[in-house]
Amino acid sequence: MAVSGLTIGAFVLVLCIGSVANYPNGDVTQSCQDMVPQHNHLPHPDPVHSIAAAPTTFTPGGQVEVTLSGPEFRGFLLEARDAEDLSGSPIGSFTLIDSQVSQLLTCGDIQGSAVSHTNPHKKTEIKVYWNAPKSAPNHVRFLVTVVEKYKTYWVKIPGAVISQPKALPFSTPEATVAPPSTLPPVSHLTESFGASDCGSKKFCVRSPSACDPAKERACVFLSFTLDDRSVRVEMSGPSKGYLSFALSHDRWMGDDDAYLCIHEDQTVHIQPAHLTGRSHPVMDSWDTLEDMAWRLEDGVMQCSFRRNITFPGVKNRFDLNTSYYIFLAAGAANDGRIYKHSQQPLITNEKHDVTADPVNVGGSRAPLLLRAHGALMLLSWMTAVSVGVIVARFFKPVLSELLCGESAWFQVHRTLMLTASSLTCVAFVLPFIYRGGWSRHAGYHPYLGCLVLALAVLQPLLAALRPPLQDHRRRLFNWTHWAMGTAARMMAVAAMFLGMDLPGVDLPGLWKTYTMIGFVAWHVGTEVTLEVHTYRLSRKVEILDDTRIQIMQPFAIAEAEGHAFKKAVLAVYVCGNVTFLIIFLSAISHL
Ligand code: HEM
Ligand SMILES: *[C@@H]1O[C@H](CO)[C@@H](O)[C@H](O)[C@H]1NC(C)=O
Ligand SMILES: *[C@@H]1O[C@H](CO)[C@@H](O)[C@H](O)[C@H]1NC(C)=O
Repeated sequence: MAVSGLTIGAFVLVLCIGSVANYPNGDVTQSCQDMVPQHNHLPHPDPVHSIAAAPTTFTPGGQVEVTLSGPEFRGFLLEARDAEDLSGSPIGSFTLIDSQVSQLLTCGDIQGSAVSHTNPHKKTEIKVYWNAPKSAPNHVRFLVTVVEKYKTYWVKIPGAVISQPKALPFSTPEATVAPPSTLPPVSHLTESFGASDCGSKKFCVRSPSACDPAKERACVFLSFTLDDRSVRVEMSGPSKGYLSFALSHDRWMGDDDAYLCIHEDQTVHIQPAHLTGRSHPVMDSWDTLEDMAWRLEDGVMQCSFRRNITFPGVKNRFDLNTSYYIFLAAGAANDGRIYKHSQQPLITNEKHDVTADPVNVGGSRAPLLLRAHGALMLLSWMTAVSVGVIVARFFKPVLSELLCGESAWFQVHRTLMLTASSLTCVAFVLPFIYRGGWSRHAGYHPYLGCLVLALAVLQPLLAALRPPLQDHRRRLFNWTHWAMGTAARMMAVAAMFLGMDLPGVDLPGLWKTYTMIGFVAWHVGTEVTLEVHTYRLSRKVEILDDTRIQIMQPFAIAEAEGHAFKKAVLAVYVCGNVTFLIIFLSAISHL
């Protein structure tokens, strides 16, 4: 279960911010270009570290010693760039002096074009060699990003400039490296958001539906109010860490436009971000948001901001004049760092255009189609198939009277198995309808599911073509029928265990695993009991035969007692089985 939990855990959006702390090994190549660490903090403005270079002239193919020094720091990223184009790509390559503390990275296409830390230990000085490429610009400047700790870092500190001997002296104003902007103005909300305009002026997403954030602490609330060319967004919910929502083209996390409100140091940071795949969100700049405000009261976090409907030329901010699925998630945050949401995100059932008619929508953490899928599969494989198999295996002599022209056990078996097969077919298509395709990120469950379906379809087809009882091929059929059926049941049990752990249904906690183990034990226990009983009955009959007591009476009594016992076991088993089923179905319906 732990393994399946892990695989599936990987499916859910991992809201974790990468950082030097998260990348203590210094593998920070995703920051190659902008040299900005993925920490959602503003870089410090005034650098205290410096880069010296000796000598200060270089010839193509030559080597220069570069020294980064300053107060204790933990991480860094060093590059050389054309001094006249500091946003261009790295130039030349480095050679390490001490590979214990520094390592080469490949930024752009050039191997060793950047250097970073190898561990998060404190250091005060790093020395490396820089190798000038064959064709180098006239002036090269070293740039470094230094991380002192998670929240404290300086980005793209300009270091020494080195020049080719014949070049004119370098004279670009220091201002080429723009100082990072300051924190945007954020105000304090004096009162809670209200839900009274929902449906008339505000487009509202709420859970539970129609809740009021001003009155109910547990109310998860997101609203969009259109005025002129901008949209005012309000988000509220119980959270000590962060609240976030994302606009998505599909029902998967990834390639989404996201907004986070993160509790930190008695304030709330409001942060646009975008989600690339299932990894941590990548923080974007604040410039697109205006009128940011927040409030913290009683464990309820509220934040609001305004943004334009469209941002021509700005990447990652979606146009608000089209429809999206809306995700709402919350989770823990610590020291400005955010962690994976604790609960499955709330997802709207369909796409919505938040600037069209202001309506009220709800959402679900477990979509109806997936819940129906789970419920039908449980009904088929936990109950119908289990009972059907037990009846066929142990009740041929017990339920031998005719029922509509066939023996009763056969009628029961056939009905249950055909029901299970048809329900399996229906249940099978539901996740496909929901996802509009194959369930990526659902681990082995879908693969097992497909095998189960294949067997569930084949099994009744083959059974319909079975050779007559006396035919010599009948034994072959019996064996195949048993083997395929058993394989299907085992895979179905595995699929059920894995399915229950998928975020799509999100059954709470560990109880489901224990309950499922309980069910399997109940079932196996019953089969063993019946097996032992059958064996002892056959021994009894043999003994009776052996002693050649020519009276049929005791045998008939033994057999009748045996049948009564078996019927009792079946009744008890069915009650237990149905109880397990009801437990699961009610848990699924209460999601
Ligand atoms: C023997 C029983 C089962 C079979 C044969 C089966 C089969 C499948 C198959 C083939 C898929 C993939 C569909 C696709 O790719 O879109 C699927 C998805 C899924 N199944 Fe099952 N399933 C079974 C039992 C269950 C149970 C008991 C649950 C939960 C209680 C469950 C929950 C899910 C969920 C949540 C998904 C969607 C995953 C996602 O896209 O997020 N399944 N199942
Ligand atoms: C939003 O749009 C207005 C008018 O079109 C424009 O003046 C303003 O700069 C835009 N705001 C942002 C943050 O881009
Ligand atoms: C949304 O607005 C942008 C800019 O005005 C426009 O280019 C785009 O076609 C609009 N999209 C829709 C679906 O109306």
